[in-house]
Amino acid sequence: MLNIRIDNIGESIKTTKRAMRAKLQDLKKIMAEVEDDLKREVEVVANARAKGGNTVPIIEYQDIVDEKVTEATKAELRRRGVAVVRGVYPKAEAQAWNDELGEYLAKNRYTERKPAPKVKDEYFSKLKSDKPQIFGIYWSKPQMQARTHPHSARTRAFMNRLWKFEGEGKKYFDPDRETLYADRIRRREPGDKTLGLSPHMDAGSVERWLDDEYQHVFRHVFSGNWRAYEPFDGAGRAETDEIPSPAVCSMFRSFQGWTALTPQGPNDGTLQVMPITKAMVYLLLRPLLDDVPEDVLCGAEPARAFSIEPEWHPLLTPALSSIPHVEPGDTVFWHPDIVHSVEDEHRGQGYSNVIYIAAAPYCAKNAAYLAKQKEAFLSGRSAPDFSAEDYEVDFEGRATAADLTELGKKQMGLQPW
Ligand SMILES: [Fe+2]
Repeated sequence: MLNIRIDNIGESIKTTKRAMRAKLQDLKKIMAEVEDDLKREVEVVANARAKGGNTVPIIEYQDIVDEKVTEATKAELRRRGVAVVRGVYPKAEAQAWNDELGEYLAKNRYTERKPAPKVKDEYFSKLKSDKPQIFGIYWSKPQMQARTHPHSARTRAFMNRLWKFEGEGKKYFDPDRETLYADRIRRREPGDKTLGLSPHMDAGSVERWLDDEYQHVFRHVFSGNWRAYEPFDGAGRAETDEIPSPAVCSMFRSFQGWTALTPQGPNDGTLQVMPITKAMVYLLLRPLLDDVPEDVLCGAEPARAFSIEPEWHPLLTPALSSIPHVEPGDTVFWHPDIVHSVEDEHRGQGYSNVIYIAAAPYCAKNAAYLAKQKEAFLSGRSAPDFSAEDYEVDFEGRATAADLTELGKKQMGLQPW
């Protein structure tokens, strides 16, 4: 439950911080250890990058199918919280989706007709750069085909299984049943300079301190036993409450993610990450130090992305790394606590286009969202979490229930699972 009085968020923050500090008598000593540990981890990442090595683990889709991903690789995936999975979809299929999406937007004159949003998307308004080149469409056939593709289900089940999905006498979520979170697409032009996003985290900002379930998720950190904190422990993760706001995700995503429709890599205006899952410990404890005003959570403000700032989090900055080059049909996944950004400038030659496809395993929270989302799908309205732009209501050629496979209908909540 959210312990938030939104009309007086400052008071809620002060009260919570006071209570947390009371339990962390050794805060200075703990923070020194945390910083020391994190510094070493940041160095590992920065050194690997300097030597031209990969800071993001790469695995092959075929190895997932053949169950050949080693335990050592899985441990590395958990440590980094980011994965590139190559060849999830056949390349030609992903390229065809890219063309088809372009035709869908052109045929329906998206850029000319784009009406003013009914609800302003202020999620990123506090971040440094403007809104990225993201199109508010959810229901094109390529998006639905990619999301409901059996290869995607296989990949997401593998990613879900990196988590501890049962414990405390219950199953937190079902790793093998995927629900579908309809998100938008990115089509970024070469030369574009205006569309970056500064480092941030989604899946809650102030909630990470103020929500009861989040306090359970981070119980070891807030009790001072930070070494016991396990980023992939599912306890409480699928039960957190978020402050409702346009473009804040109200599903539990075990990983955020996207599928590449065009080749893209460093400098192509694409994704950057700080690939250290345990950095969350530092981010959680940082606002409790003496140099931070009582009502400040160092970049976390209600109904916004949680902004990671050099002013508060200088230790992390050197870890920021671009994802490696990917080809159409490759996918990228990142844990909900991974700091990420989008490069300010697209210096490459071609469009960098993606379909956002997260992993969202079946649980009560996600089933509840599906019930709302399916109504939006059937009528072509924007997905419930997003600004109610509703561009596609009268778009020609959008996907309908008849276009979905059996698996797709289950993932959309149109058929019981
Ligand atoms: Fe994000």
